[in-house]
Amino acid sequence: MDNKIKLHDKFFKPFISYAEMEEAIDRLADRVNADFRDSDDVPIFLCVLNGAIMFTAAMMKRLNFKAELVSIKLSSYQGTASTGTVLIPIGLTAPVEGRRVIIFEDIVDTGNTIVALKEMLLSKGAREVRICTMLLKPDVYKKDERLDYVGKEIPNAFIVGYGLDYDELGRNLPDIYVLDEPKDKHMKYYILFGPPGAGKGTQATAMVEKYNLHHISTGALLRKEIAAGTELGLKAKSLIEAGSLVPDEVVEGMIESEFKTVTGVDGFLLDGFPRTIAQAEALDAILERNGEKVTSIVSIMIPDGMIIERISKRAAIEGRADDADVSVIKNRIDTYHNQTEPLIDYYKKAGTYNEIDGVGTIEEVRDRIFGLVDKF
Ligand code: IMP
Repeated sequence: MDNKIKLHDKFFKPFISYAEMEEAIDRLADRVNADFRDSDDVPIFLCVLNGAIMFTAAMMKRLNFKAELVSIKLSSYQGTASTGTVLIPIGLTAPVEGRRVIIFEDIVDTGNTIVALKEMLLSKGAREVRICTMLLKPDVYKKDERLDYVGKEIPNAFIVGYGLDYDELGRNLPDIYVLDEPKDKHMKYYILFGPPGAGKGTQATAMVEKYNLHHISTGALLRKEIAAGTELGLKAKSLIEAGSLVPDEVVEGMIESEFKTVTGVDGFLLDGFPRTIAQAEALDAILERNGEKVTSIVSIMIPDGMIIERISKRAAIEGRADDADVSVIKNRIDTYHNQTEPLIDYYKKAGTYNEIDGVGTIEEVRDRIFGLVDKF
């Protein structure tokens, strides 16, 4: 195998040789042949374009029972890849009603694509659907759906070659390559805490600029999904309109998807998430799956009296009705304390909790934050 290669802006290093892939595919084909050898019907091989093109060809050369070839082109919705939004740029090239279908997929990651595809085939009347994937990332796979045939399991890493691409490049490499990132290049994950009026918005902007971070606010993310009219957005919209909370797994899916799809930054600044211990645990699990961890909480603290003072002042300037009423403000302060205090304990135990004195001018508070973040 060649040494390192470059595709677009990234380097990749050798991972699985062509010979090793061929051996795995030999074994896989033996199992499929054994299962279908005596069948009376003619099943459909369904090639999931573009990624599974090489794998489908390799399997077809080895499978020795009668079958027909059908294709479909799928792509995960950019930015919400792990939420189950799967686009179908090219539909099924032949009907599947009443037929047994073996899906040939290049790789199963979260499983969103394959599960959506299987459901779609069954809804179109397929009699039976089996899943045959060349590769599986078991650490990432979240679904209960059984995968009938798996060629090889790999760790959670981004790979190219043997049909798999990075932004359409790399599909024609016979060997498989893995993204080569320096081991010490970890992303930073900061979580911003602070009561209303602590100046979170202003300080978040300053942190994002100075440390090249991507700001994740769950409210803004949901509004983006709703505005884009995605499946997730529509679901969120109806829940919000009905006065219900958006379920944790939806918010967590959105955040994980941001971590995976946003590039060119040195880290993330989370604002408004996590709000509960369950969410904090889910965040830890997401980061751990990706070999990462929370860098630090940045908790901007001001006394309750000052919260009321600052918010009332803001109300006078901006005319925000929700800021004008002292009893409403007190309610928000109570909610803040009730929600945040358990999280403070959680992160103190984890050793990642850091408090910033929020009393002072914007610049003074900012410099205290920079003094803390510079250490990481
Ligand atoms: P899932 O829906 O998360 O299971 O993702 C499946 C699809 O994501 C695959 O069909 C590929 O197109 C793409 N994918 C997942 N992991 C990789 C990878 O490591 N390299 C290239 N494409 C990948």
